[in-house]
Amino acid sequence: MPKKKSLSRTGSHPGEKVRMMIPKGRVHQRVMQIAKQIRVDFPEEPLHLVGVLKGAVFFLSDLARAIHGEVSLDFLAVSSYGKDTKTSGQVKLTKDLDVSIEGRTVILVEDILDTGMTLQYLRRIFEQRKPKHLRIAVLLDKPERRIADVHADYVGFTIPNEFVVGFGLDYAERYRNLPGVGILALKPTEKGKRSEV
Ligand code: IMP
Ligand code: MG
Repeated sequence: MPKKKSLSRTGSHPGEKVRMMIPKGRVHQRVMQIAKQIRVDFPEEPLHLVGVLKGAVFFLSDLARAIHGEVSLDFLAVSSYGKDTKTSGQVKLTKDLDVSIEGRTVILVEDILDTGMTLQYLRRIFEQRKPKHLRIAVLLDKPERRIADVHADYVGFTIPNEFVVGFGLDYAERYRNLPGVGILALKPTEKGKRSEV
C-alpha cells in the first residue's frame, strides 16, 4: 500500500506557516473563566448569546456550554473586509437575527476586536433594538489597530498587532479548525497576494 501523504500539524497551505501563540488549553481555561464571570454579572437572567458568523462559532459554542442556567443562541453575519487584510471600514449586515433581542440580556460574541468598525456598527444597531442589557465578549483584542471607540466587556486575550488564525479565525477561509490561536506567517512572495480574510 502506498503511504498516505500526511498533513502538517497545522495543515498549512504552501507559502504559509502558522506559529502557535495561544495553545488550546489556555484558550479553554480562559473561556471557562469568562463564562463564570458572565454568570457572576448576571446571576439569574436568561442569557441570549449572539455570535458573529463565522469567526465566533467555536468561541460561542464553548462559552455557551460553560455558562450555567438558561442560555439561548442566535447568529448574524457581516461583511467587513474587502480584498485586503486592511478593513475598508464598510460594514454590512449579510444575515440578520432570527429572533428579536428586545428586552433580552444579550451577549454579542465576536472572534476579535481589531479596528472596532464591526462591533461599533453592531452595537449601534443592537442598541436601537432595545435589549435589556447589551454586553460584548471577544476572544481576542488587538488594541493597537483600533480606529473606532469600542469597548469589550469580556476579553479572552489582548494580543499584539499580528495576523492570527485558529479557533474560528481564518485566512482565506483556512485554519478556522485549529484548536488554538497562531500567528500566520506568509513567505515574502505570498505577501502581496492576500485576498479574502
Ligand atoms: P474590525 O471591524 O476591524 O474590528 O474587524 C473585525 C473582523 O476582522 C473580525 O471579525 C475578523 O473577521 C477580522 N480580523 C481582524 N483581525 C484578524 C486577524 O488577525 N485574523 C483573522 N481575522 C481578523
Ligand atoms: Mg469576523
